[in-house]
Amino acid sequence: MMDLAGLNARFAIQDVLVFKPGPGGLVVAEVENQAASALIALQGAQLMRWTPRGEEPVIWLSGAARFTPGKSIRGGVPVCWPWFGAHASEAGFPAHGYARTVPWEVLATEAPSATQTRLVMRLVETDATRAWWPHDTPVECHITLGETLELELVTRNAGREPVTIGEALHTYFHVGDVERVQVLGLEDGEYLDKVEGFRRKTQSGPVVISGEVDRVYVNNPAACVISDPVLQRRILIDKHGSESTVVWNPWIEKAAKMGDLGDAGYRHMLCVESGNVADNLVDIAPGEQHRLWVSYRVER
Ligand code: BG6
Repeated sequence: MMDLAGLNARFAIQDVLVFKPGPGGLVVAEVENQAASALIALQGAQLMRWTPRGEEPVIWLSGAARFTPGKSIRGGVPVCWPWFGAHASEAGFPAHGYARTVPWEVLATEAPSATQTRLVMRLVETDATRAWWPHDTPVECHITLGETLELELVTRNAGREPVTIGEALHTYFHVGDVERVQVLGLEDGEYLDKVEGFRRKTQSGPVVISGEVDRVYVNNPAACVISDPVLQRRILIDKHGSESTVVWNPWIEKAAKMGDLGDAGYRHMLCVESGNVADNLVDIAPGEQHRLWVSYRVER
């Protein structure tokens, strides 16, 4: 792994992108361009902040987040990969895969214009990651920061056998008051209700939150909108290569048990995660790749 001086010598972009020590000693890339500011931790390729100019933060980062090497940061956009939730057979393996807790390396940075900055990262494989996942599947995360935020997770199967992955971009959105937002786009969608032991249900009307919500909408490539009357904005979520959408808010009791969500945190966050989970795991043939792409944009 490159040290800070090396990273900056190779990948810093003058007045736009710099690598520096972040909270807890985690290395972060700080981006400031004419359209947005952002912060990305190299651990987990985890976006921690993205704020278009003149906006309230769009991505929620817990005020009680812990920044510890090897632990996922509560908030931002954790990358869940190569499985989502509990591992199918190994109870001791990390929840939501290991991508979010291991170092990623920078492959490239680029400023296509004064209003767009791009960062390309690749997960660093080690003996520890190979013990969890013996397959040869290099994975990259491409982040484009501007008035629109684009995230793309690219998984290549460089091995000789087919592989099956689960994945999600576990985005924590910042909302004015979660009880007053609506998520549009999932109407009539089929979902697994994790709060009721994965019972299969059908969504009626927009999604509203007035208690713990943990749902996996399956077979659902639809774009979504978070309508937020308190912050007077709509967050537009577009996606490709994603057949599942997860909507999650832990509500009061579960949040209190988590310890890193903060007392009133649950009121100001809502996870709307684009990915491929449960019914929608992705098979990747040898030599093929799979791309999960999302974009977020704010509309007033
Ligand atoms: C959601 C899951 O995506 O992530 C929830 O559906 C889970 O079941 C939540 O509680 C948070 O997971 P973690 O591992 O970051 O605490």
